[in-house]
Amino acid sequence: MINDLWYKNAVVYCLSVETFMDANGDGIGDFQGLARRLDYLAGLGITAIWLMPFQTSPGKDDGYDVSDYYNVDPRYGTLGDFVEFTHGAKQRGIRVMIDLVVNHTSDEHPWFQEARKDENSPYRDWYVWSKEKPENASQGMVFPGVQKTTWSRDKVSGKYYFHRFYDFQPDLNTANPHVQAEILKIMGFWIQLGVSGFRMDAVPFVIARKGADIDKPVEQYDMLRTFREFLQWRQGDAIILAEANVLPKTDMNYFGEDGDRMHMMFNFQVNQTLFYALASGDCAPLAKALEATRTRPPTAQWGHFLRNHDELDLGRLSEAQRNMVFAAFGPDKDMQLYDRGIRRRFSPMLGGNRDRMRMAYSLMFSLPGTPVLRYGDEIGMGEDLSLPERNCARTPMQWSTEPQAGFTKSDAPVLPVISDGAYGFQHINVADQRRNPDSMLNWMERLIRMRKEAPEIGWGDFRVLDVEEDGVLAIRYDWRNNAVLIVHNLNESPIEVRIDPGPGEGSQLLVDIADGSDSRADEAGLHRLYLEGYAYKWFRVGGLDYLLRRTEI
Ligand code: NOJ
Repeated sequence: MINDLWYKNAVVYCLSVETFMDANGDGIGDFQGLARRLDYLAGLGITAIWLMPFQTSPGKDDGYDVSDYYNVDPRYGTLGDFVEFTHGAKQRGIRVMIDLVVNHTSDEHPWFQEARKDENSPYRDWYVWSKEKPENASQGMVFPGVQKTTWSRDKVSGKYYFHRFYDFQPDLNTANPHVQAEILKIMGFWIQLGVSGFRMDAVPFVIARKGADIDKPVEQYDMLRTFREFLQWRQGDAIILAEANVLPKTDMNYFGEDGDRMHMMFNFQVNQTLFYALASGDCAPLAKALEATRTRPPTAQWGHFLRNHDELDLGRLSEAQRNMVFAAFGPDKDMQLYDRGIRRRFSPMLGGNRDRMRMAYSLMFSLPGTPVLRYGDEIGMGEDLSLPERNCARTPMQWSTEPQAGFTKSDAPVLPVISDGAYGFQHINVADQRRNPDSMLNWMERLIRMRKEAPEIGWGDFRVLDVEEDGVLAIRYDWRNNAVLIVHNLNESPIEVRIDPGPGEGSQLLVDIADGSDSRADEAGLHRLYLEGYAYKWFRVGGLDYLLRRTEI
């Protein structure tokens, strides 16, 4: 039964079809190309793919501006190619999740075109209008510095329309029951074509009341239950992973007290404090964030990540903390974005320091939740800061040393392939790393295997153990008579720590899952552990014979 909640211990891999693999040689990644790379993904060991938007779109916000929800953008292939791909994924035991972008449409969507030109059109009320420019039009922009307003005048209707994001992304009036019914229809459509769930874009904005008279946010949480209920009737194992960068005190509103709303949420609170911990060597705020986000219904799950396709948002840190992260990982103005974040890839942020990167991934994979990995990070890809805004970290996947990194046969890829410097495809690519047992790629495969061997992380209760050193984080997970204890040293210098793994007869013996070495407690029940700089240790508490003791049903 526990396997039914597949997302509890999934390893999710996020990718954009456009920049993954081009099969037809036109310079743009496509579903046929992606399908050919499924064996690569299966080999890596991931269990679910999250596809960034691929529906028909003018592509002004990398597909987050949809103009037809019921189609594949012709540049990426056809619906037939999509189904071949989901089928191929299923054969390999990989689930497919897709982005669901329903807070807004593209301004080229026929609904908006109808709505703007005819005030009697049923679509008029699908969007959010105002006769006058609302007083708060210069507030609430998501892309400050790039986006000037949240209300723009539409020339055709002569009215102002609301857009939380860019002006070409008019917000849908999600309170309109017809819009809600359409959202369900969209989910139903893609479920039918083989997907196992949705990464729902901008959830707090989807459920917020919208209108010129709204001066403070009011969320309509009931909507989330409607979405989930529909999904569960249509396909019991389908889930929603919410993008909701909200304060911990509202988490339960999103999950639902009875676990009847979102199945998963990204843990932005932990993400920001994790970067602070990496920058400062101080794990206390991270431990606090883990505590603050502890409460969730038994069927719910966090999604943890290091970097994603957007900027690393540091908006929840204090100014001093944020400045420390900027100084460590994105000191140049050019590396920062929207006054709150860093737009770089993970590897260059850490100066390509292998040991530090591995420690950081190991840490992320061992947090209470499900890890979400971004394409290219498994080989340590870099960024191209000459590209605008977030595009710098969205360059094509680097497969080999062939021209254009083997991504395309065309010499005009959709975004430039990184070809200069230490992060150029000549140095960072799958083919080379495939052959090298000590590469980031092969290391990542081993990390994924280790994560799968520790189901306690997804299912169990966790405890952050008391350790005297600020730079060492030790977490213990217990689940059904089994326990793992995972220790990270975030600092460069080696250190010896004493750890009390807590009561239980097994606590006398810790066995390293990776190399089989062990540690025995002293008379006081403490383990004395010597940790190299940036060390990561995954111990099984009480010995390695846990497989025999496992009582899964
Ligand atoms: C959040 C997405 O992650 C981001 O890439 C996008 O620009 C906005 N939502 C608008 O859809």
